[in-house]
Amino acid sequence: MTTHRTTANDRLTVAVLGPGGIGGLLAALLSRAGHRVICLAGDETAKTLRTNGIRVRSGLFGDFTAEVEADTELREQVDACLIAVKATHLDAALTRVPPTVLGDALVVPFLNGVEHPASLRARYRAGRVAPAAIRAESTRVAPGEIEHVTPFAEIDLTGDPVPDDRLDALAKALDAAGPTTKVHADETATLWAKLSFLAPFALLTTRHSLPLGDVRTHHRAELTSVIEETAAVSRACGGPADPEHLLARFDAFPPGTKSSMQRDAEAGRPLELDAIGGALLRAAERHGVPVPVTTSLVRELGNTGH
Ligand SMILES: NC(=O)c1ccc[n+]([C@@H]2O[C@H](COP(=O)([O-])OP(=O)(O)OC[C@H]3O[C@@H](n4cnc5c(N)ncnc54)[C@H](OP(=O)(O)O)[C@@H]3O)[C@@H](O)[C@H]2O)c1
Repeated sequence: MTTHRTTANDRLTVAVLGPGGIGGLLAALLSRAGHRVICLAGDETAKTLRTNGIRVRSGLFGDFTAEVEADTELREQVDACLIAVKATHLDAALTRVPPTVLGDALVVPFLNGVEHPASLRARYRAGRVAPAAIRAESTRVAPGEIEHVTPFAEIDLTGDPVPDDRLDALAKALDAAGPTTKVHADETATLWAKLSFLAPFALLTTRHSLPLGDVRTHHRAELTSVIEETAAVSRACGGPADPEHLLARFDAFPPGTKSSMQRDAEAGRPLELDAIGGALLRAAERHGVPVPVTTSLVRELGNTGH
């Protein structure tokens, strides 16, 4: 068994699996802050990153280019491996991170959803899987070219079985690099808090091909039902449940806001429907929570061919 080598003040070595909208942004910010960053990607993307680095355009963090290392597979020990592929690519991408090489490193998935931590814990050291939820909108416009458009980037880092000092060291590095990062003690609450907003937002904007403002105005009854159903499932799973607060959050967003699932649908890419809607329905079934409106929505989206 290897032991980790970091202290709060160390320069970290961080692998980033999936240097896209979120992974590319975090890789570039960490590199700019002085950490060693190894991006793990397909052959072509890895070549591009080695040659050109990662170019970021961000109102919040500025426009800059950061040098990174890049490989198709993890070949050495790191302090943490950030996982930022889409759920639909997770299984294929994980073959680039052999458990024996990863050893004692933190495994930090930024994926939306609530089921991936269990599958990562089955594959890697359970006590090193530290899920993160990120609030930001960031797009990979081309390999190694990232546009971060939101005037905020906030990370909630969690992981019930992960030692506090490991979470704190990574949170400190991320926070100093740019995104406001907080460690949260309750993993279930953290992941369900994110899904409770995201699921209604993603499912309804994608189903109706409308931005959030039109959904909350023209499909308000349906939105309210999905928020209430999601909150009931979250409560049954041990997460937060405050439908009125969630609806108020919807009302506070700029009307033109689109979800990433909606953008994937517009671009003809596979949807993270199973990781978001599917996971919600499975949790509802496990706990006997009725979710008729969400069930119809997920079924309709599944029938659209994505
Ligand atoms: N983007 C956001 O604003 C945002 C916000 C919150 C949460 N999230 C969540 O974060 C996760 C990542 O989303 P994203 O928008 O950053 O995705 P993305 O822009 O599509 O980036 C995914 C990256 O994964 C890479 N990839 C795909 N298959 C791979 C494989 N087999 N091996 C190695 N790399 C592979 C892609 O490589 P190529 O570059 O070579 O195609 C791409 O760089 C999702 O779960 C999403 O829901 C995203």
